[in-house]
Amino acid sequence: MNDSQDNFRDRALRFFPDGSNGEYGIPEGDAPVIERGRGCRVWDTGGREYLDMTMAWGAALVGHAHPKVLEAANAAAANGANFAAVTRPMVELAERIADISPCVERIRFVASGTEATMLCLRAARAATGRAKILKFEGAYHGQHPEGVTSLVGSDPPALPQPDPAGTGAPWVERDVLVAPYNDLAATEQILTDHAADLAAVIVEPLHRCITPVDGFLQGLREATAKRGIVLVFDEVVTGFRLALGGAQEYYGVSPDLVAYGKGLGGGFPIGAFGGSADIMEAVNEQRLPGPNYAWSASTTGGNPVSAAAALATIDLFSEPGVYDRLHAMGRLLRKRLERALGQAGETAQVLGDGPLAQSVFLDRPVLCHRDWLAADRQRGRAVMLEMLRLGVFLNPMGTKLYLSLAHGEKEIAELATHFAAALQSTRPR
Ligand SMILES: Cc1ncc(COP(=O)(O)O)c(C=O)c1O
Repeated sequence: MNDSQDNFRDRALRFFPDGSNGEYGIPEGDAPVIERGRGCRVWDTGGREYLDMTMAWGAALVGHAHPKVLEAANAAAANGANFAAVTRPMVELAERIADISPCVERIRFVASGTEATMLCLRAARAATGRAKILKFEGAYHGQHPEGVTSLVGSDPPALPQPDPAGTGAPWVERDVLVAPYNDLAATEQILTDHAADLAAVIVEPLHRCITPVDGFLQGLREATAKRGIVLVFDEVVTGFRLALGGAQEYYGVSPDLVAYGKGLGGGFPIGAFGGSADIMEAVNEQRLPGPNYAWSASTTGGNPVSAAAALATIDLFSEPGVYDRLHAMGRLLRKRLERALGQAGETAQVLGDGPLAQSVFLDRPVLCHRDWLAADRQRGRAVMLEMLRLGVFLNPMGTKLYLSLAHGEKEIAELATHFAAALQSTRPR
């Protein structure tokens, strides 16, 4: 680390709580200040190079500063960065997404995944006239109160009671119900008990890195349809990542509403929510001020720069072999991490699917959040922090590793070497 890096860390500490713009939880003063990125590498203000294994928390799925994405964004910016109105690239993007996403008949653009999931829930409440939402314990759906309910607490209440810790919104105790992911019987019981009040069930189909057991998503689809409850897929992570058609295509289950963000923008900020024409009518301003109207308007949502970047990004995802490669790299990454764990004699496992992986220090399968809570999370965090020191840029709080189109076998081998070294040097004595 040189003077310039020190200087920026100090300057960041002066204004940003913990020197951070959110999450990471890196010990104060240790967080790098990022200067630039290219492909799957980033450099900090001191010139230190890192292998990036967080890729803007998955947003830079095509790699940093992809030339085709930059070219499209630059060309759009030259014509005006934002009109807060429907534009040519926005219409083209809506058409592309509707072709790709099985459930999308109508769509609206926003600027983040948080807005996308928040508006799915608002539209579902307006369309059904019901107040309650069911989510799965441990799921993160963005910064709004429902998005962080039952996420951060370590002593969670009995389900379906929600844990409001970190939400700043005590009302979630009234309006949010919480179910164990992968437990269809328990979830159906909650749906039966609260059917009359439930507007929506929101699920991240691949719950962080925990894969759905056979029949779980199909069962949710049937159980919600039977009771007139809106099924929302949070595809902010899985969208365009597990397949071009996201988790809907990958798992063969179609929701009523879907939220997108992250990877869609090729690094530029964008989000989208859409789904069945009936439910999306809730945001139609002609309904104002009716009881079934849901407010939705985003000043920067779907701006022409982000929309043009997203179109270029979808072109890249549409090239032959892209998903075969992302899945092959993901499998290789998980295999190499598992091998390192095995060689180190650790009691641990590697979760994930597609280009995602997460190591968990636990001796039994991880099917839901309570299993994950039982894991040795201190050890997981210690290993992640050590990898950061070794030159891997990642999020030690999330511990989820994101691959991109720019990662190949060489980078995975490099990561596995650092992982093995980190396991060694953090081994409890
Ligand atoms: C599954 C999921 N949903 C929603 C969000 C929120 O997206 P954003 O940070 O763009 O608001 C995230 C962000 O990490 C996420 O992982």
